[in-house]
Amino acid sequence: MTSIRTGITVITLSVYLVAVHIHAGKFEVLHWWTSAGETRALDFIHAQLSQQGIDWQNLPVTGGAGEGAMAVLKTRVLAGKSPAAAQLIGPDVQDWATLGFLTTLDEIALQQHWSAILHPTVDTLIQHQGHYVAVPFGIHRINWLWINRTKLKQTGRSAPQNWDDFFSLADEFRQQGIIPLAHGNEPWQNATLFETLVLSLGGPRFYRSVFVELDEQAILSDTFADALRLFARMRSLMDDDINGRSWHQSTALVTDGKAGMQIMGDWVKGELSAWGKEDKLICTAVPDTRNFHLYSIDTMVLFQQPQPDKDQQLFAATMTAMNTQLGYSLRKGAVPVRNDIDVTLLDPCAKDSYLRFMENEMHQTLAPSLAHSMALNAEREDIFIQKIHRFFQQPDTPVEQVQAEIVRNLKPLKQ
Ligand code: BGC
Repeated sequence: MTSIRTGITVITLSVYLVAVHIHAGKFEVLHWWTSAGETRALDFIHAQLSQQGIDWQNLPVTGGAGEGAMAVLKTRVLAGKSPAAAQLIGPDVQDWATLGFLTTLDEIALQQHWSAILHPTVDTLIQHQGHYVAVPFGIHRINWLWINRTKLKQTGRSAPQNWDDFFSLADEFRQQGIIPLAHGNEPWQNATLFETLVLSLGGPRFYRSVFVELDEQAILSDTFADALRLFARMRSLMDDDINGRSWHQSTALVTDGKAGMQIMGDWVKGELSAWGKEDKLICTAVPDTRNFHLYSIDTMVLFQQPQPDKDQQLFAATMTAMNTQLGYSLRKGAVPVRNDIDVTLLDPCAKDSYLRFMENEMHQTLAPSLAHSMALNAEREDIFIQKIHRFFQQPDTPVEQVQAEIVRNLKPLKQ
């Protein structure tokens, strides 16, 4: 995913001048939301905007966490066919804004009091040099463990609170003849699983020292080594068909009772709701992360047009309105980016996520997702993701070697 994103930094101003175009009536939206839940959440917004006369055109690019979508976006922009809006998240927004591609949304932000109604973390994320340059959609929590309700009940156990419980439960699922842990062997899925383990074993401050501050001692520490060992142990809970399995295929395995558990962000809940199977799974925090919040915040950017584009402004205003935020979050499995939500309107998993987000934000202990581009820029993120992925393919590699390689590869990028 990320090596593709890196390329954007070399785009020059002359390319930018070619890239600008009028969206000529059609409002093209490039995104990577292609699963049932993701599509349903987007359709909800699409319908609202269509009612207001916006001729919405979907440009979906398959691939969880944006694998694929960024390559297509770059190609389109270089070819002078930038869409009106594109899904772009995390520090990458800053890169595109620096190059001058993005429409500023200061007027809408002022009219709608974004600085007052948005969670501070969201408010900061969507600004570049004091100007609003992205539209916030929703907040996902990544450190969730999803368990098949019926299968869990059959074991007579409750949801695991620590790793001993987790592995005992996994054993019981194996005895029931089902896959203990459903997973797909893609770089971003492996990084998603691994980052929850780093948070679990080290807590949010340790997590940040590794994935945000790139602290060498933290990366070379026993805690990081233990996270790698735990990650390797996870492989033993999976089946042999993990290659090419999407995250929602894993969710389907758990929902159908062919697997017991899945560790994945709460977009899983969007899927369950699209399938009408909300009651099949329970959500619980990944062991030892109950008080923490490992987040991914979805945002879309709007590409500059030669003339001010009122459709873009309408899009931004609609997205942050209270009813859109609630309707979208419910369908997507996310929680609203606004801080003034009546939590009684949220389902129990969403309520937990929403409250934990605010609590950790207050204590400055939020953990930005590495796998979902919240923690680092593309080049640095890529080093971690590639090393984590490689280690997962060769889990017999000494963990010290992996740690040393990460430190060595990061070094030139730290100056
Ligand atoms: C996005 C989610 C999306 C998930 C799987 C994450 O990076 O934040 O909105 O559902 O990837 O594609």
